[in-house]
Amino acid sequence: MDVLVVDHPVAQTRLTVMRDGRTDSASFRAALHELTTMLVYEAARSLPVEQFPIETPVAPTQGIRLANPPLLVPVLRAGLGMADSALGLLPESSMGFVGLARDEHTYEPRAYMESLPTDLTGRPVLVLDPMLATGGSLEHCCRLLADRGCTDITVLCVLAAPAGIERLDRSGLPLRLVTAAIDERLNDRMFIVPGLGDAGDRQFGGM
Ligand code: PRP
Repeated sequence: MDVLVVDHPVAQTRLTVMRDGRTDSASFRAALHELTTMLVYEAARSLPVEQFPIETPVAPTQGIRLANPPLLVPVLRAGLGMADSALGLLPESSMGFVGLARDEHTYEPRAYMESLPTDLTGRPVLVLDPMLATGGSLEHCCRLLADRGCTDITVLCVLAAPAGIERLDRSGLPLRLVTAAIDERLNDRMFIVPGLGDAGDRQFGGM
């Protein structure tokens, strides 16, 4: 599986704000919004483009547009904080939704919402979820997409744990990963260390 770490200094400053336990919810959401723009920008580098004729005020020339705009899929809840900035950078995209909650005891994902096009053949998909911990949630989400015929999945994360990367790699699903950092490990509650805590709670408050 291809893994791209966006270690740009500006991205890393936003990640630092998100990691800092003193950061309040509003500042956390703002940093996630800005960091997502950078992750999407890097992930979109490989999207196919096509030329079309335009006229500047001076002369005719060729313009560029996306040949096949992607479907964006935020994983609820935490991925919601990435949705608006991804759509802002790729306004031609459409959006599907998957709702997953990780069981506190088994750490396996429980699906509670699914709103996706039935056929994703030939369509690139960008999956948005800040955290790749055990990888259970993102494997489940990517399997839903592959079951609909998708063969081009890019997962965008803020943080990835080595165990989650291995799980996605072993899944054999057609995906690549774009992340701002790969952290050390998971703790005994399957939280990423050093991590940033619970990305859903830090954006929206505890349940
Ligand atoms: C978190 C996170 C990922 C998942 C990562 O969501 O946003 O979706 O856990 O863990 P995994 O890789 O071990 O599956 P959570 O289930 O806490 O729900 P939330 O987004 O509603 O907070």
